[in-house]
Amino acid sequence: MECSSIKVSKYLSKLYVNYMLHPHKTPVVWITGASSGIGAALVKQYALKGFNLVVSSRSKTALQHIIDDLQYDLNRVLILDFDLNERHSYSDFLNVILHRFGRLDILFLNGGISQRSNALETTEEVERRLMQINYFAQVAMAKAVLPLMQKQGKGQIVVISSIAGKFGFYLRSTYAAAKHALFGYFESLRLETERYGIKIHIVYPGKIKTQVSVHAIGADGNPHRKMDPSHQNAMSAEACAVYIIKQMKLGKTDFFVGGKEGWILVIKRFFPSWFKSIIRKQSPY
Ligand SMILES: NC(=O)c1ccc[n+]([C@@H]2O[C@H](COP(=O)([O-])OP(=O)(O)OC[C@H]3O[C@@H](n4cnc5c(N)ncnc54)[C@H](OP(=O)(O)O)[C@@H]3O)[C@@H](O)[C@H]2O)c1
Repeated sequence: MECSSIKVSKYLSKLYVNYMLHPHKTPVVWITGASSGIGAALVKQYALKGFNLVVSSRSKTALQHIIDDLQYDLNRVLILDFDLNERHSYSDFLNVILHRFGRLDILFLNGGISQRSNALETTEEVERRLMQINYFAQVAMAKAVLPLMQKQGKGQIVVISSIAGKFGFYLRSTYAAAKHALFGYFESLRLETERYGIKIHIVYPGKIKTQVSVHAIGADGNPHRKMDPSHQNAMSAEACAVYIIKQMKLGKTDFFVGGKEGWILVIKRFFPSWFKSIIRKQSPY
C-alpha cells in the first residue's frame, strides 16, 4: 500500500514537472478559410480531437457562428480575421497565437477563391486578386510560421490546392495558374525544410460540396453566385475533412480527395491523348 502511494506521488510530481517544463502541451491548429466549406469542416474535426483552434477568414461574425455551433470551450479558440487579398505581417498574427497558446503544430492554407471567367475577358485586376489570395498570401503565411516550426523541430503545413492544380480547365485560367504555382513553390519548400522535421502536405480536392462556385469570381470580380451542378452531388465537406486528416496521419504528402472525377488524373498520366479529348467535352460548371 505504502509502495503504491509513493508510486502515485512520484507520478504526480513527474506530471507537475512536465507541466512546468512544457506548459503548452495541447496541440494547436491554424485553419484559414474556416468560415465555410472544407475549412469549417476541418475546424469541427480538430475540435473533436481537442486541439486548440486558431480560425481565420474575413468574417469575424461567420467564424464566431462556426465556434458557437460547436459549443467549444472559448478559452481554446482564437479568432483571427483578415483578408488574404491584403498584405499583412503574418508573423504579427503568429505572435498573437504564441502569446495565447505558446505553440503552433499545424497550419492549413485553405482559404481561397475560385474563378468563372474566360481568360480573354478577365481583367488584370481580377487576375492579380486571384493570384494574391490563392498564391502570394499562402506563401507569405508559410514563410511566417516556418522559423517557429524549425525552432520546434516539427510542424505541418497543409496546402489545399485543387484538381485544377493538376491541369488547366475552362473558365479557370488564373485559378489553375495559382494552384499550379502552389505545387512548384511548396514542392521546393518541402525539400528545403524537411530536414527540420517540417512536413508539407499538398492536397488536391476534386469536387467538394461547398460554396466554392457561389463565391467564385467572374471577369469583373463579381461573385458567380451559383452552385454549379457538378458540386451539388459531390463529396461532402465533412467527408473531405475526415479523409484529409486520415491521409495526413498515414504520412501521405500529396493526395487527391473527392469522388470519381479523380479518375481523370490517372487518365491524364497514362493516356494523355484520351485525357485531352475527355477534358475538352467537360462542362465548366
Ligand atoms: N469545393 C471544391 O470543390 C474545391 C475543389 C478544389 C479546391 N478547393 C479549395 O478548397 C479551399 C476551400 O474552399 P471551399 O470549397 O471550402 O470554398 P468556400 O466554401 O467558398 O470557402 C472558402 C473560404 O475561404 C475564405 N476566403 C475567401 N476569400 C478570402 C479572402 N480574401 N481572405 C480571407 N479568407 C478568404 C472564405 O471566408 P470569408 O468569405 O469569410 O473570408 C471561406 O472561409 C479553397 O482553397 C479552394 O480553392 C475547393
